[in-house]
Amino acid sequence: MEDIYYSDYIELDKILNSQHPKSFETLEEGNDEMLFIIIHQVYELWFKQILFELDLVRHIFIRGRINDNSDDLSRAAQKLKRIGKILELINQQVSVLETMTALDFLEFRNLLLPASGFQSRQFRLIEAKLGLKMEQRYKKEYYKYTRRGSLSEIDAREIDQAEGESTLKELIIQWLERMPFFHEEYWKDYKRSSPVDKRSTIAPRALGGGPVDKQVTAADSGDGHKFWIDYRSAYQNSLSESEAGRLREFDKVFFEEGRGNVSPAAMRAALFITIYRNLPIFHLPFELLNTLSEIDELLSNWRYRHFMMVRRMIGLRVGTGGTSGAGYLEGTLSQHYAFREITEVATFLIERSKRPLLPNALKEKVSFNL
Ligand code: HEM
Repeated sequence: MEDIYYSDYIELDKILNSQHPKSFETLEEGNDEMLFIIIHQVYELWFKQILFELDLVRHIFIRGRINDNSDDLSRAAQKLKRIGKILELINQQVSVLETMTALDFLEFRNLLLPASGFQSRQFRLIEAKLGLKMEQRYKKEYYKYTRRGSLSEIDAREIDQAEGESTLKELIIQWLERMPFFHEEYWKDYKRSSPVDKRSTIAPRALGGGPVDKQVTAADSGDGHKFWIDYRSAYQNSLSESEAGRLREFDKVFFEEGRGNVSPAAMRAALFITIYRNLPIFHLPFELLNTLSEIDELLSNWRYRHFMMVRRMIGLRVGTGGTSGAGYLEGTLSQHYAFREITEVATFLIERSKRPLLPNALKEKVSFNL
């Protein structure tokens, strides 16, 4: 068998023959359009790798019940970390493009109208598969495929389909909802740290509600689950006068409505993991949640860098894709997060030393493999 050759293996000819700057057809000397094309291609290659990793992670969670004692969770965490590293890298690449000046860009800008990064199918798929929904998007009217400069009908359909499949966010919510932390058997030797507060505004049913906590009512002291009563009381004590309203929010988020599209049961599990992340069994779940917040942050860092670069390149002019340009991009910055609710769990943390002590039975026995 003939030895395989490097350039054949990576199909280099195809890649290296895929740069055809439009302005070069009439110019004697090149301009920055070559850089502009190459940088977009490099981004799209990395988007492809991100999507590949994202699909792997989704499949780990989709395959029925994740086996938390296998290496499923560590594989998922490792893949998500890799996505984070790629995002770090592509954030840095913005500065390469920033060596092009606004005047350099004007030399070829009109030739690419109405094409724009807005039409990046892969970027939209990353957003959709992470969990960003069309209703949450800033200026969703821009996405109508009938609008010039928007996505093609085929691409729009594919993104719509990705949104309808299990997104990473939905899978993470389901995984959190299945956490078996509150089974009665673990709480027999729990020592309450706050007096029973008869005026507690948390409905006992709400405390035990959700698919995870069916067993909780058995452990109830009549006022809801003792752990959450203690935690709530410690949280209340941690609030300054100006933040007193947060207690009402605490009840809403963890016992009534949840937050965004994350259920109260999933929010409780996320908070629980975050509080007790020092316990070995929570290391991986915490790392996973933390990496999701990191991915959101890195993506928004990218949005910010891209927005700043765009402002330098085109000022306040409309984009080639027909949006308002920098103004539109600034709007996406505050709105386009997939894991906002998970990140904002930090709102409800208390000092380490004030955390309720977990019962030994839970510490010893809690296992994800129930
Ligand atoms: C000179 C450099 C660039 C300029 C002036 C620029 C400009 C813009 C503008 C104005 C938009 C808003 C849509 C529109 O009306 O066109 C946009 C969107 C976008 N651009 Fe760029 N861009 C540049 C480089 C890049 C690069 C290198 C990438 C990498 C793939 C990229 C990816 C995107 C993406 C993904 C969007 C959609 C963002 C969103 O809707 O959240 N852009 N760009």
